[in-house]
Amino acid sequence: ADLGTPPVAGEPSVRLTIDGRAVSVPAGTSVMRAAALCGGSIPSLCATDSMAAFGSCRMCLVEIEGRRGAPASCTTPAEPGMVVHTQTERLARLRRSIMELTISDHPLDCLTCSANNDCELQDTAAQVGLRDVRHGYAGANHLGAGVDGSNPYFDFDPAKCIVCSRCVRACDEVQGTFALTIDGRGFASAVSAGQAADDFLSSECVSCGACVQACPTASLQEKAVTAIGKPERAVVTTCAYCGVGCTF
Ligand code: FES
Repeated sequence: ADLGTPPVAGEPSVRLTIDGRAVSVPAGTSVMRAAALCGGSIPSLCATDSMAAFGSCRMCLVEIEGRRGAPASCTTPAEPGMVVHTQTERLARLRRSIMELTISDHPLDCLTCSANNDCELQDTAAQVGLRDVRHGYAGANHLGAGVDGSNPYFDFDPAKCIVCSRCVRACDEVQGTFALTIDGRGFASAVSAGQAADDFLSSECVSCGACVQACPTASLQEKAVTAIGKPERAVVTTCAYCGVGCTF
């Protein structure tokens, strides 16, 4: 589950109410994580269980009594006495609209995509009940850029990128390589392997695979998965891309 920024251990606890249930969490816990701890499930795309919250996808909006608007629950810390609603008609409408905008800039090739049935964008669209996209297809924005297949292990398809920045944060926070960034703004924004590099191979990327693992779509996809599909079983290994499964 995506839970937003982890709380700081040892902090005093905060009591709040989420969807009518009283919950007590350490200070600094995000509303999203607090909701998950009491059994709730808030849709999300850019939050993960291990990286700092970023607040870019806006899928995790909630309503907080006494506050205007609908803040992102992954970047909103729980506060004493808060009364939070995570499932209302208004939130359902907002989440469907946001998902429509996200998908309007994404190829509609799910049936032939290597991530079909293993795609967080697909899952979240189903979770928010999206059945139709009214805004046409703007995914052509990045189709001209083509797929960057320069890395020997994975491909980067900018047309499938939803700019959630999970790959950039994984590269920074998990791997400490700082090879990736986001270039441009609005529809033109895209993940880039560094401004001085033409492609992944000539960038600072060390092929650790953290970005591929973090990607919620098939934008960053292992070449082997594109070629022959997902592996039938998972193994624990200390070497990226090794399928033997030995550990030390
Ligand atoms: Fe909160 Fe993306 S999950 S803004």
